[in-house]
Amino acid sequence: MKFFVDTADVAEITDLAATGLLDGVTTNPSLVAKSGRNFLEVIKEICSLVEGPVSAEVTAIEHRQMVAEGRKLATLAPNVCVKLPLTIDGLKACKELTDDGIQVNVTLCFSAAQALLAAKAGATFISPFVGRLDDIGHDGMALIAEIVEIYRNYDQLRTEVLVASVRTPGHVITAARLGADVATLPPAVIRSLFNHPLTDKGLAAFLKDWEGTGQKILD
Ligand code: E4P
Repeated sequence: MKFFVDTADVAEITDLAATGLLDGVTTNPSLVAKSGRNFLEVIKEICSLVEGPVSAEVTAIEHRQMVAEGRKLATLAPNVCVKLPLTIDGLKACKELTDDGIQVNVTLCFSAAQALLAAKAGATFISPFVGRLDDIGHDGMALIAEIVEIYRNYDQLRTEVLVASVRTPGHVITAARLGADVATLPPAVIRSLFNHPLTDKGLAAFLKDWEGTGQKILD
């Protein structure tokens, strides 16, 4: 399973990329606004920090404008993945951009029907938002199960399931158990995956006992 980080914060991306465990980055207009950076500049910089796909979202809502914006974003770096909203115009643009060989992440997916359409439009990734569904009393992970099941029924659908709007490590584990291809995680959720109180407790005990031996591995 691939892990993307969901942020436009370059310091966070640099820090997490150093773990060697980061497979890509997703951004959205809200995250870019939060960064306070120029959109095109920050995407270019992020693309130089990671080898994997970096999702950069168009802000046009009309198909021709979306295609024009997508083509411009794709010139920033070879690993730009153009992010398009799941609308009729977005899927028309998806078809056109993927036919050009540009990677596309179709975002704001909230139903299996939408995911099926995105796959038929040739999306590289579909982004179902699990946390936002949970927020309104629906079951976000049930949607992931449905999409994974549907995509598995058709070999010709190559779209990867990118679990988005992730809030907890539990979301990540359920996504992995369901066979989702990717999860995009806020930096805090990635960091929380490393933690377990028994790891901390066990390490403290090992180090205390080791100190008692008076030995060193390196001189
Ligand atoms: C995905 O690409 C989106 O940027 C993101 O996961 C949205 O998450 P949120 O619901 O926490 O804003």
